[in-house]
Amino acid sequence: MTDFPNTALIGGGIMGEAISRALLSAGVLTPAQLAVSDPLPTRCEFFTRELGARASTRNVDVVGGAGLIILSIKPQNAREVARELRDVIAPDTLILSIMAGVSVQALSSALHDGQPIVRAMPNTPAQIGMGMSVWTCTSSVSATQREHARKVLSVMGEEIYADHEDYLDMATALNGSGPAYVFLFMEALIDAGVHMGLPRHMAEKLVTQTVRGSVEFAGRSRQHPAQLRNAVTSSGGTTAAALYQLEKGGLRTVISRAVWAAYLRSAELGKKA
Ligand SMILES: NC(=O)c1ccc[n+]([C@@H]2O[C@H](COP(=O)([O-])OP(=O)(O)OC[C@H]3O[C@@H](n4cnc5c(N)ncnc54)[C@H](OP(=O)(O)O)[C@@H]3O)[C@@H](O)[C@H]2O)c1
Repeated sequence: MTDFPNTALIGGGIMGEAISRALLSAGVLTPAQLAVSDPLPTRCEFFTRELGARASTRNVDVVGGAGLIILSIKPQNAREVARELRDVIAPDTLILSIMAGVSVQALSSALHDGQPIVRAMPNTPAQIGMGMSVWTCTSSVSATQREHARKVLSVMGEEIYADHEDYLDMATALNGSGPAYVFLFMEALIDAGVHMGLPRHMAEKLVTQTVRGSVEFAGRSRQHPAQLRNAVTSSGGTTAAALYQLEKGGLRTVISRAVWAAYLRSAELGKKA
């Protein structure tokens, strides 16, 4: 046993599995301290077999004795799950929700008055400990509970606390959906390489390592991305010819519109939930 509170994870999908694996492999929790619920019996079997966690298809079965409940369900299931949990959880149990768009106000009104709630937005690189999470919390979250929330998020990668909940919907559009933008960009580059005639495996290797190296370089360098880009762009050269076409095609405008659309959608999902 560790001194971390027993944890119930509601929703054993992609993110639920990533969080569980991260907590167990970092030794924050022992398998005996983790209970998972998911409607699919095969998912429950998976969590027990692979991770050693207790699992049930009924949410109410896993929350007893939990000091922390992680909601890793879809926003559209928020209302029914909160209603189910309300009568069986203590008013001071910490709730950590990773649901896109679902505000702390929406969760508070469905749970107990003053229930401590953390709302976080992680992303899928959390599956390899390289995630980026942004989080905020209600004033009823104690200093110890804040540390517990920070711990959960930091075993999945980096985390940033935000004072304003508005930043969560904005973050959803950047770090939450962000990996998909990067994957689409990589896919487009690989296909362009294949279009020119490169073997696919070679195009994949070139693009993956170029993206990895550029991200690492930008992270370590103290320079603005525009400076790094200028350093690759010789006058009248190949990069300048490519950048001209990217700008002409409206790349920045398209990206800005895409991020804005994700932000609006996050707010819309929250209203529906
Ligand atoms: N994936 C991402 O990139 C990402 C990033 C940041 C945050 N999020 C947020 O994380 C949450 C989970 O996303 P995900 O990608 O892990 O989705 P997911 O793979 O669909 O996981 C959700 C899980 O919840 C289960 N579930 C459905 N109804 C339930 C209920 N009433 N009680 C308990 N479990 C229930 C689902 O089972 P069934 O499949 O049988 O319905 C599924 O296994 C979402 O709110 C999303 O907004 C996701």
